Amino acid sequence: MQKGLFITFEGCDGCGKSTQLNLLAKYLEEKGYNVLITREPGAVGLGEKIRELLLNYDDEVSQKCESFLFLADRAQHIDTIVKPAIERGVIVLCDRHTDSTIAYQGYGRGLNIDELNKLNTLATGGMKPDLTLLFDVDSETSMQRVGQDKDRMESAGIEFQKKVRNGYLELAKNEPNRIKVFDSSKTIEQLHQEVLSTVQAVLQTIISAT
Ligand code: TYD
Repeated sequence: MQKGLFITFEGCDGCGKSTQLNLLAKYLEEKGYNVLITREPGAVGLGEKIRELLLNYDDEVSQKCESFLFLADRAQHIDTIVKPAIERGVIVLCDRHTDSTIAYQGYGRGLNIDELNKLNTLATGGMKPDLTLLFDVDSETSMQRVGQDKDRMESAGIEFQKKVRNGYLELAKNEPNRIKVFDSSKTIEQLHQEVLSTVQAVLQTIISAT
């Protein structure tokens, strides 16, 4: 493969995306692809410190400050980890990316979405995922799966989760070619098979174009 592939995994808390990411990584590695698993916020180094601030700081955090911290993490992550890997031909599987900011800080917190889009573009330098897998889960199930041990974002409550979920679905409606929606009420194996057929189709398109 000449250039790698950038696949992002999105969805509300407790949607099961991390399980699907790991299953896909295992499958691709067995097929001989070079795969990198990463995440936002907080892949390595500076990002880990930003993640700690974002998720565990227990005093008030301004909504703009929250957004800038996610965006700062993203800028560092894209420049130092994702871009170099894509240039080496790696398939990058990333747990959350730009759509999380639009869904959580935009639809969830109510910040201006056009402005957040511009800030996302600034943070990524305009780089977009080749494919985004969105795992849709109803907000009651989402809260149940998260359980009692909640971080700062998960503690925002069910009404917040509902806004985030609707935000994600809106994003998928606007960009159906990039964002594919999966119904998280299905079994892990069913979802894995659906993910595989979506990813195989994208790989096929890329291989036939090179
Ligand atoms: P994490 O423990 O990674 O949650 P999950 O396993 O559900 O991905 O925590 C990340 C939290 O940060 C999650 O609640 C979503 C939130 N988030 C935002 O609000 N905005 C963002 O831009 C990103 C990347 C994450």
